[in-house]
Amino acid sequence: MNRPIFLIGFMGSGKTTLGRKLANHLQRTFIDLDHLIVERVGMSIPDYFEKHGEEKFRILESEVLKEQTGSDVVVSTGGGSPCYFDNMDWILSQGIAVYLQLSPKALHARLQQSKIDKRPALQGLNGEALRLFIEEKLAQRESFYKRAHLHIDQLNTSVEMLSQSIEHYGRLD
Ligand code: S3P
Repeated sequence: MNRPIFLIGFMGSGKTTLGRKLANHLQRTFIDLDHLIVERVGMSIPDYFEKHGEEKFRILESEVLKEQTGSDVVVSTGGGSPCYFDNMDWILSQGIAVYLQLSPKALHARLQQSKIDKRPALQGLNGEALRLFIEEKLAQRESFYKRAHLHIDQLNTSVEMLSQSIEHYGRLD
């Protein structure tokens, strides 16, 4: 299977952590889209949002995504990446898309413990407000995420299981 693997899913679904492990396991190069953007613009994502606004960020995010044409890579995308422009069509046409699926409840628990200040969309949110935000945003985004070739139950998977599912899919494809 000689195509890029894209991990997609909501903020806090473990795309970066699992992506890095998967890349190691498959001996592929790991690419973190948010990290590439931060390097490109020389500032953090919250700073970029504040200075240039979300619209500019989404344009840049789409450009950086579409530069990822290497076949031997695992790419962890930002939570919003598949949901803007024709990004999800592009991802599906280029590689294998894997949706790391978690319930709003599990996302809430994980995001409450994460560094919210690194995620501009979550700034100022906690407790009930964070829970409502996750429910609403996930409902808006799930139709994009669900177009992925593979849906993985994040809480009940391992890097070995994930790579087996991808290999299996690659054989059927
Ligand atoms: C975003 C998710 C972030 C980052 C940006 C916007 C989103 O990535 O791209 O803050 O809109 O869901 P993570 O999913 O890696 O947190």
